[in-house]
Amino acid sequence: MVLENGVALGLHIAPMMGRSHLHGRRLWRMLCPGAVLYTEMTAAAAVARAGEDARRRLLFLPLSQKPAVLQLAGDDAQTMRAAAALAAECGYDALNINCGCPSERAQRGGFGARLMTQPLRAAAVVRAARAGGGLPVSVKCRTAVDDADAESFLSEFVAAVADAGAGALIVHARRALLAGLSPAQNRSAPPLDLQTAEIVRARFPGLPMIINGGIATAENARELLSRFEGVMVGRAAARNPWLLAEIARREFGARPPSRMEALRGMLEYAVSQPPGEWRKIAAAAGGLFYGMPGGGELRRTLARARGVSDFILSAGFPPPTPPIKDGGGCLQQIKMGGGYCENVFEGGAGFGIFAACAV
Ligand SMILES: Cc1cc2nc3c(=O)[nH]c(=O)nc-3n(C[C@H](O)[C@H](O)[C@H](O)COP(=O)(O)O)c2cc1C
Repeated sequence: MVLENGVALGLHIAPMMGRSHLHGRRLWRMLCPGAVLYTEMTAAAAVARAGEDARRRLLFLPLSQKPAVLQLAGDDAQTMRAAAALAAECGYDALNINCGCPSERAQRGGFGARLMTQPLRAAAVVRAARAGGGLPVSVKCRTAVDDADAESFLSEFVAAVADAGAGALIVHARRALLAGLSPAQNRSAPPLDLQTAEIVRARFPGLPMIINGGIATAENARELLSRFEGVMVGRAAARNPWLLAEIARREFGARPPSRMEALRGMLEYAVSQPPGEWRKIAAAAGGLFYGMPGGGELRRTLARARGVSDFILSAGFPPPTPPIKDGGGCLQQIKMGGGYCENVFEGGAGFGIFAACAV
């Protein structure tokens, strides 16, 4: 895998629809420089068929978010090849093929976990992705589908995709149950099965395996890093992004910013973005003080606010003069002369959250 940096670092932040968008990734990058970031699942067909402008929006990747992996979904080799070629032009470091999504849509479309039941088709998709863009390609999969014997099922699948050129494997270490469970239920049941993942890893010693599923503490990540080439964190990164900073600091000697600096960074960034993006930015930043006094209140205040200026006002501060215009390119205004964000973070009436959390 060419992503030497990412694989060496061993920390991967999962592809998550509605979470791993541009803004979520921005926060994660701030907290853990060097970790490998994944996009939300993106349909290869959407990439291949989009007009130039739409495609540029769909695949936009700021340089600061590298190393970054575009996750593609699809079952048609020709479409995948075209999408991969276009992705390579946008600066992605690697591609990842979704072979784990258990949704009905994925089942109907023949992609996601459905591809695990068709190793030869999965291999053709991987081969096409490799050929299209020349980028490294990894595969994200489960340990098995439905009641298949996990060891032989996963081994057969891995043999096929490795032969087709997959350079790394990300294993969400539980089987996908295609009937009767929603995708959300499929992330908590059945129980994790690390043993199968380890057995299969040993059978393919040249293929780095990144383990995924249920990682929620730095200790947990440390233990798994001693057994696999990398760890991939999903829900915990969205709920408690500070966990990423802890892992990056403890395991890789990174020097992340403080929670407060990260929040400030996200507010400054929000001001530079179109107002319609605020909700996603606020949701991404909302977990920064997870588990700390006032953390829940901060998340709720961010969620209720209609923009940065409204957030500052709802937090009980006097109205800023001149007013901050969200999306109006007023980043300079905030940055200059200390600005309002600086004032906000120094605490004050009605803002006990920051007084409590300013560590
Ligand atoms: C809201 C949400 C959206 C997700 N979207 C994707 C996706 O687009 N592609 C994918 O491969 N997995 C997706 N997943 C699964 C995660 O990548 C991950 O495999 C799963 O959540 C297990 O890891 P965790 O226990 O660390 O969350 C999603 C998970 C969540 C919670």
